Amino acid sequence: MPLDIWIVGDGAREQAIYSACLNSPLSHDVSMKSVDDCYQAISLYEAVDLPELVIFGPEEPVCLGLVDKFAQVGVKCIGVDKKFSRLESSKLFAKQFMANNGIKCAKLLPIESDAFPQVLKFDGLCKGKGVKVVYSDDEKNEFARKFLGMRYFIEEFLEGDEISVMSYFYGGRLINFRPARDFKRLSADKNSPNTGGMGAYCPVNLTKEQQKRLDIYLNKLGTALIKEGAEFQGFIYSGLIWTRDDWYVLEYNVRLGDPECQAILENLENDFLDILLNGSIPRYKKGVGACLTIAAEGYPDTPVKNDEIILPKASNVTVYKAGVREENGKMFSNGGRVLSLCINSDNPFPQLREYADRVVMKHKYFRKDIDIIW
Ligand code: AMP
Ligand code: GLY
Repeated sequence: MPLDIWIVGDGAREQAIYSACLNSPLSHDVSMKSVDDCYQAISLYEAVDLPELVIFGPEEPVCLGLVDKFAQVGVKCIGVDKKFSRLESSKLFAKQFMANNGIKCAKLLPIESDAFPQVLKFDGLCKGKGVKVVYSDDEKNEFARKFLGMRYFIEEFLEGDEISVMSYFYGGRLINFRPARDFKRLSADKNSPNTGGMGAYCPVNLTKEQQKRLDIYLNKLGTALIKEGAEFQGFIYSGLIWTRDDWYVLEYNVRLGDPECQAILENLENDFLDILLNGSIPRYKKGVGACLTIAAEGYPDTPVKNDEIILPKASNVTVYKAGVREENGKMFSNGGRVLSLCINSDNPFPQLREYADRVVMKHKYFRKDIDIIW
């Protein structure tokens, strides 16, 4: 029986999940819901029609334990439960999880360490802003003051290429998607600020040794989740760096990456919902799934809002709206990351850039340098 499904969240990632569900024969009705909608529905659960499945996009509701709350009223969720959401909400919990299970990550350094560069990490949800590579005591002290009252730790700086690997924990095993890579910096300048993601692609070409090591790591992760008693069905995102001839974990997230999710779904050939409901194995199209973010000038600190947006017609680019307000049939920019442009092709970024050039939006900003370096 096709299911009534709610997608929690309202960004480009959630819209990509929404489209994938809508296009599946396994869905009946699909709608996007806010966290408030969910709380209200749970509190009135005897009086409202609850969906048969809830799929979580962002980490906040997952870390607040909304998956557990839906379970209490008999609704099945694709989302990590509260206990394991600490893999994202507490970086110290994640470190302990890795130490318990022989998973490699950066070494902790004493708080007073003067081995620079080093990495300062706050132990809580900081919307991606709680981590900084620091090069001096001054920089370290200035950043440490930012989240006063929150625990933090220092770890060694690792250098290497990063990948994002999305896994789906289902029925006591991990179903892994192909590795993706996102572009976190605002520009090609390595001192430019970190963003939610200016683009992404999937797959990332790995050497045989990197693939072998990745398989070993993912096996360890699956075994660790089972050993620690995980019973949820949900996504685990491993942020990995290749260094010292192996993959080291930089972070865990308890959700799909944004924009990595869009790139993966572009590249995916079979039904995403069938993977989620029945544990079928992902199959992929030829070419590369890719995504380019159109942001507003001023992002990430003070994005300019309220520009009218006109999208070019007739294109094979899929456009997901992230920070967009719609009024009287017109679209206006209404956030930092405004649009997510997606395509699967042999040479996706030139096509995405060409489309981005033609998008009308007065204060648009996108990275013109992103390309795939095989
Ligand atoms: P996180 O939120 O922990 O993934 O950190 C965000 C970004 O900071 C990562 O994608 C890396 O680029 C960088 N980063 C985090 N930890 C380290 C580390 N130990 N060494 C070098 N870079 C790091
Ligand atoms: N693109 C990085 C993230 O979703 O955390």
